[in-house]
Amino acid sequence: MSDAVLKVRDLTVSVGRGSRRHVAVDDIGFEVPAGGSLGVVGESGSGKSLTLRALMALLPPGVHAERGGVELAGQSLPFSGPGARRARRGRLAMVFQDPLSGLDPVHTVGAQIAEVPRRLLGASASASRRRAVELLRLVGMPDPERRWHAFPHQLSGGMRQRALIAMALASEPKVLLCDEPTTALDVTVQAQVLELLDDLRQRLGVAVVFVSHDLAVVRQVCEQLAVMYTGRLVETGPTSKVLDGPAHPYTLGLLEAVVDLDDLDRRPRTIPGTLPDLAHVPAGCPFHPRCRFASEDCAGELPGWRYFDDGDAARGTACKYPERVIAR
Ligand SMILES: Nc1ncnc2c1ncn2[C@@H]1O[C@H](COP(=O)(O)OP(=O)(O)OP(=O)(O)O)[C@@H](O)[C@H]1O
Ligand code: SF4
Ligand SMILES: [Mg+2]
Repeated sequence: MSDAVLKVRDLTVSVGRGSRRHVAVDDIGFEVPAGGSLGVVGESGSGKSLTLRALMALLPPGVHAERGGVELAGQSLPFSGPGARRARRGRLAMVFQDPLSGLDPVHTVGAQIAEVPRRLLGASASASRRRAVELLRLVGMPDPERRWHAFPHQLSGGMRQRALIAMALASEPKVLLCDEPTTALDVTVQAQVLELLDDLRQRLGVAVVFVSHDLAVVRQVCEQLAVMYTGRLVETGPTSKVLDGPAHPYTLGLLEAVVDLDDLDRRPRTIPGTLPDLAHVPAGCPFHPRCRFASEDCAGELPGWRYFDDGDAARGTACKYPERVIAR
């Protein structure tokens, strides 16, 4: 994919140091074209948020990006150091799951949004204010002139999420990283915010990386899908291909665990066991203790990445025996 606006290579993130060092994101790579959308799914603890935070150079204390490269519109970005945040400003923005954590409670949402074009783009106070109202309108905030004066606690959850998206867009980013941006919202507001993100992507050409645990949501908003398990990618490909014909047992397990509204007679089937913690990731294929397709050799060595052709689209999986899953 040569027109990718975001290229991530071999990203490895670890937690702790020395004998207490554990790998939380292991050799991740992906690309997203301008205006494209990539969904990232996986159970809680699979490394989705740390992947996005590493891309933003916003890792929490004690967590480090050890290796890897990130390229934005052809420019390589450092993961740490004084220039890391500056290099991302105005190009890469993130929307967090909890809108309150991204908004300052003591300033009005309008002032917070206006601050971005003023600081980043050198816009005048009145132009910044006009831009903030425009952005609030763009994200579908009801009565944006009035809401400009609202403090975060005076807005509903959906409005706060819109304000946060407006603030992220204020820097005119090329890529928007969204970490479960609708999980805290009720389904109706969730649907509106998802439509908004899709619309912004198509109208403004912003590429979106969308982390979610909800497969129905990623099917709705993401063209490409990446499935993560224990910090590693286990399956990638076009979302509909992956979800309609999974090639990795873990992807199949995630799908089987969901209630199918078109087939209520099918009982959801949970994946046995739980995601191992970082200190106890099994040797060989990390999924083997939970995998019903496993052979003895699956516990031996880490499965390599296999690309395969699925009709008109390239797919990839980190399973030794994808044909067992496909032929089930
Ligand atoms: N600040 C931290 N310090 C130590 N370990 C951390 C920290 N943040 C995350 N981890 C660990 O790294 C792993 C990946 O965490 P991450 O938050 O990326 O998971 P996630 O896929 O986003 O999960 P969720 O769906 O629950 O948000 C987990 O094992 C988690 O316990
Ligand atoms: S490599 Fe083996 S254990 Fe791992 S997912 Fe594939 S079949 Fe299951
Ligand atoms: Mg997370």
